[in-house]
Parts: sequence; C-alpha cells; structure tokens
Amino acid sequence: MELHLEDKVAVVTGASKGIGLAVVEQLAKEGVKVVAGSRTSTPELDALAASHDVTIVSVDLSTSAGAEALVQHAVDRHQRLDILVNNVGAAEPRESFLKLSDADWRRIFDVTFFSAVWVSRAALPHLVAADSGAIVNISSINARLPFPGVVDYSAAKAALTNLNKSLSEEFASQGVRVNAIAPGPVRTPFWTAPGGFADVTAAAAGTTAKEAIDVVVPESMGITSGRVTEAHEVAALTLFLASPLAANITGTETLIDGGQTKTL
Ligand SMILES: NC(=O)c1ccc[n+]([C@@H]2O[C@H](COP(=O)([O-])OP(=O)(O)OC[C@H]3O[C@@H](n4cnc5c(N)ncnc54)[C@H](OP(=O)(O)O)[C@@H]3O)[C@@H](O)[C@H]2O)c1
Repeated sequence: MELHLEDKVAVVTGASKGIGLAVVEQLAKEGVKVVAGSRTSTPELDALAASHDVTIVSVDLSTSAGAEALVQHAVDRHQRLDILVNNVGAAEPRESFLKLSDADWRRIFDVTFFSAVWVSRAALPHLVAADSGAIVNISSINARLPFPGVVDYSAAKAALTNLNKSLSEEFASQGVRVNAIAPGPVRTPFWTAPGGFADVTAAAAGTTAKEAIDVVVPESMGITSGRVTEAHEVAALTLFLASPLAANITGTETLIDGGQTKTL
C-alpha cells in the first residue's frame, strides 16, 4: 500500500526503543525525514540514522525545555513539520495508591502526559503551517481501564486520550488531524527490561519473564488473540493514521489489544 509519506518531516518522541523505535524505522523506510527524541540512543537507532534521514536528538522530554528543543531542532533542520508522534511514556509497578508520593505522580505525569502537552504546543504552529499536519498520540488501554498496579500511569493516559479529543476539535479546521492509539501489552523494553512488567508478572506467577509475557499475560488479561502485540504492529497503525490515507480520520482512539477490551 502506498502511504504517500515520502519527504514529509516527522518528530517522534521516545524514539530509541520499543514502539518509538519501530515508528522511526517504518517512517524512515517510507522516505520520511525523522527527528527522533529520547534521552539516550541505541545501536538500532544509530543504525537507522546512518542509513536513512533520521536525526537523533538527545532530550529529556519530562521537561518543557526538552520538548521545545526537540521541535526546534526539527524545524531548524528541515524548515517544516508534518507529523508528530507523541509516543514517550513511562510506568512503574505500584503496590498501593497510598505509597505514591507527589514526586511519583509528578514524574509519571510529566513524561506520560505533559510531554505531549509541551511537544504539541511547540509543534502545532508548524503543523498548521504544513496545511495537512497529523498528530498520533500513543495512549493505552489503561486510559479507559484504570488499573491499581499502574494507578498514576492510568490517570496520565486518561488525560492524554482526553487531550487528544480536544486538540482534534480545535485544530481540524486548521488542517491538523489528531488521533490516538490505545495498545494493550506490547512486547517492548517496557515489559522485557530487567525489573520491567514481565519480571513483576513472573515473580507473582512463579515463572520466567518469557513465560510471563508469552502465556501468563495473554491468559490472565483475557487477550482474545492469545498473544501480546508487537511494536511493529503499533507502528504500522501509527503510519496509517499519520498518512493521507487517513485524511478524514480525526479525534479517534484505535485499540490494538488482541481483543482484550471486551466492551463495544
Ligand atoms: N509496551 C506496552 O505494553 C505499552 C502498552 C500501551 C501503551 N504503551 C505506550 O507506548 C509508548 C511507548 O512504550 P514502549 O513500550 O515502547 O516504552 P519503552 O520500551 O520503555 O521505551 C520508552 C522510550 O521512551 C524514551 N524515554 C523515556 N523517558 C524519557 C524521557 N524522560 N525523555 C525522553 N525520552 C524518554 C526511552 O528512551 P531513553 O530511556 O533513552 O530516554 C525509550 O526510547 C509509551 O507511551 C507507553 O505508555 C506501551
């Protein structure tokens, strides 16, 4: 399928690993000029920068200064901006709401919600100028499925999904489409890194991290397809929503959860 994305300019947040890395890879292979923001890089992102028009920008997106610097870098380099993928986000396993400090809430909200506020605020004037701009917000099923084990993250994703709708309403008439994706569990370092959610699940179930993500998670969470989602599958949906093929799609939230969500 021809996505008609060639020569567009995209900013991707949280770009060094997981879903963000997969989005950068697929955009770059479509001929998009990508500006990739994260605190550090990885060999995989370095390889994409060496072989495609991918610019790596080292930024802390839990600060407004970092968010603004990322967008400014893209505009300085390419003089325009067509696509913004607000992907960065983070969760930490929680035992109880009562154990969270203000600093815990602030840390998760800054990187998961306010990063999207700050990057979008810096990017929108340029997306409006592009005349056919698109924002894709990577939210989560936890936006509508609050879970005590990630109480702060669930609330931050609910805020992001809500912001997604407001932005789509305000900027549609200015040529910018805004859509969200709500993944269920996705096989990324978010789960698989040491101390990540696969380890936590494995410890609770008395099994290995691999067994936890391949068997325990799909069974215990009711994932109809029987498996978690892969990062490239979220990236493919992101590219479609960012592309002119989705020209009349705005204000949506698309699930990609293998059937985990049971409501209509
Ligand atoms: N994996 C899942 O099961 C799942 C499910 C639903 C939704 N999501 C959402 O999908 C998005 C991507 O998740 P993922 O699983 O790909 O996460 P991941 O594997 O943990 O990767 C996170 C990315 O964000 C970057 N990052 C983290 N903190 C940052 C900061 N302060 N400033 C700049 N960059 C930062 C990381 O790079 P550095 O550490 O180098 O900065 C990395 O590139 C998140 O919004 C997440 O909530 C994930």
